[in-house]
Amino acid sequence: MQIPEKGLPKEQVLGTLQSFKSHDMDWKAGKVWCYVYNPGEDPAEVTKEAYLSFLTENGLDPTVFPSMLKLETDVVRMLATLLHGDENVVGHLTTGGTESIMLAVKTARDRARVLHPEITRPEMVLPKTAHAAFHKAAHYLGVKPVVADINPATFKVEAEAMRAAITENTILLVASAPSYSQGVIDPIAEIGALAQEKDLLFHVDSCVGGIHLSFMRKLGYNVPDFDFTVPGVTSISADLHKYGYAAKGASCVMYRDKDIRKYQIFACTDTTAYTLINPTVTSSKSGGPMAGAWAILNYLGEEGFMNIVETVQAATQKLIAGISAIPELEVLGQPAMCMFSFKSNAINVYQLADAMAKRGWYIQGQFSTPLTPRNLHISVNYGTTHQVDALLKDWRECVELVKGM
Ligand SMILES: Cc1ncc(COP(=O)(O)O)c(C=O)c1O
Repeated sequence: MQIPEKGLPKEQVLGTLQSFKSHDMDWKAGKVWCYVYNPGEDPAEVTKEAYLSFLTENGLDPTVFPSMLKLETDVVRMLATLLHGDENVVGHLTTGGTESIMLAVKTARDRARVLHPEITRPEMVLPKTAHAAFHKAAHYLGVKPVVADINPATFKVEAEAMRAAITENTILLVASAPSYSQGVIDPIAEIGALAQEKDLLFHVDSCVGGIHLSFMRKLGYNVPDFDFTVPGVTSISADLHKYGYAAKGASCVMYRDKDIRKYQIFACTDTTAYTLINPTVTSSKSGGPMAGAWAILNYLGEEGFMNIVETVQAATQKLIAGISAIPELEVLGQPAMCMFSFKSNAINVYQLADAMAKRGWYIQGQFSTPLTPRNLHISVNYGTTHQVDALLKDWRECVELVKGM
């Protein structure tokens, strides 16, 4: 394949692009139970317009585009407030959870290089359920991941398991609020206390939970403290492009203060071109995702988010009750929000996922490990809530099908 010699007509270009999607699964119908977070047509349209209106602006240089700095500071401040940060909390917008996590690990590594030069082989302690992004960060940044086992009954790590994994090379503790796989929240307060006792940085991965859990709390749900209210928490990642319902390419990493954050920033003048000062991994940075995020927060407002969260939680409870009524299936642990997983002792759940896929549903299979059985994952989002009854009906039928296999 090569670039066409002469340009093609616009209709052909755009039509062909659309045709590429013909084999994609139907997220618009609410049949994909992960990956996509759909706030409904009207808010999605606002995000889209906002995104397109900043498609070309470049966050690389806020002296040329002060608008980008304004967008970033506004969104970071809104999230910092939501997560109970005080005026010292600072942060940046990134392209996603992985970049936010990568930066939190880089910050810890570079801080340790200055404050603890005796540590030549830095380590971070993370639960088995921590997202793979931490392993990626470890791999990229030369930090050793030391994995603490979880309690196989609760799927949470215990602070004592984290303590046992700490060595003189530890620079960072990590926990999730919640973990993706089972949707449970690690004991953040206890790990925060441990971080303080050992004088370590502590990152809370709230990529999926940061926004949704905060609104659950405002609605009066019983949510344990997981944010800057917890002493010892030094940084938090919260994704806008998940339960913030923003367009993809938007996450936020926040630090308790500037003294920690300063290790995140990279600057370079040792070239022939322009002064490069990059707080995040990317250098050129589209304004689209930032404008999209700014727009959805302002368009939905607290009220809009709370309506979404209530609808999503009601759907989640109905699904969990529906699954629990199927004797062959069992929900794992006590999910904190709208993400959960389930296993079966009677059937192969991977076959169940395949049978459901034949009916157009995407239900994600998760690893069987010494600490977790074969299981399937569900993330409920606003755009799937109307499909709960249809999903349960097909589920019941597919369990019967698979039983006969
Ligand atoms: C808990 C958690 N952290 C981090 C990530 C990584 O986020 P992203 O896919 O935006 O890089 C995910 C993704 O699902 C996640 O669930």
